[in-house]
Amino acid sequence: MSKVTVVGAGNVGATCANVLTFNEVANEIVLLDIKEGISEGKALDMMQTAGLLGFDSKIKGCTNDYAQTANSDVVVITSGIPRKPGMTREELIGVNAGIVKSVAENILKYSPNAIIVVISNPMDTMTYLALKATGLPKNRVIGMGGALDSARFKCYLSMALDANANEVEGVVIGGHGDTTMIPLKRLATYKGVPVSNFLDNATLDKVVADTMVGGATLTKMLGTSAWYAPGAAGAYLVESIIKNQKKVLPCCVYLDGEYGQKDICIGVPVVIGKNGCEAIVDFKLDAEEKALFEKSAEAVRKTNAVLKEINVL
Ligand code: LAC
Repeated sequence: MSKVTVVGAGNVGATCANVLTFNEVANEIVLLDIKEGISEGKALDMMQTAGLLGFDSKIKGCTNDYAQTANSDVVVITSGIPRKPGMTREELIGVNAGIVKSVAENILKYSPNAIIVVISNPMDTMTYLALKATGLPKNRVIGMGGALDSARFKCYLSMALDANANEVEGVVIGGHGDTTMIPLKRLATYKGVPVSNFLDNATLDKVVADTMVGGATLTKMLGTSAWYAPGAAGAYLVESIIKNQKKVLPCCVYLDGEYGQKDICIGVPVVIGKNGCEAIVDFKLDAEEKALFEKSAEAVRKTNAVLKEINVL
């Protein structure tokens, strides 16, 4: 029996829960929100699709009742406010930090062995906060950003190549911010062949630029943050934990010397299995990538420093 809790029944949390349920990632899924009735209603709506979609996972909603989340194997935190057009993810820290901290603490009261997946923004800093505030071992707190950013990179690559996104490989490392993420164009491939064989430099640079503002572009169109890809990326990550799939995907994890960084949570390729982050794939970046990574880490550190200024850490 496996159990997953998703905290926050907004667009991202509800989409994540829906994908988890539909794909039968866990036997039991709990959706928790602070707004009375929202998670109960969304969960019941999803249960009413079981006879249409053919899944046999069970999902239930609850209002702030952490006892219902007891003994979850994985808990996904999506709580907090999303950004509005023109805002950066970093601007959300003042509101979201307190929320994420108290959610993480409440979760552990009932699921002391859970692996925590963080989606709330600013994601790198919220992952660092959840890790530091709970004192959990570093393998058990994972931020989702790189999985989402890499999916967006693959999407834009596939559109430029007129190819199936599943035939394309693309990795995004660094922070989950409009200016901090680093789509590694050198390593992007189409059926194992470097994409530079098919795309000229200008096209590839546009793919990289579009990927970096992949979320901001949607926020402008939608008037709020995106949810289908963020929710699905969260579910994809959870599936690798629950099914011990050992997928290698870029996630935000605590670095202790890897990639030349310490005391920071930032996106790098990791192996995801039943213990959460089972290994960090620490490969050699070229000089340009290394410089970008260092700049990205510096920006994430600056946002992390705000946690002390606002007294949440
Ligand atoms: C995005 C938000 C969820 O990138 O961070 O869409």
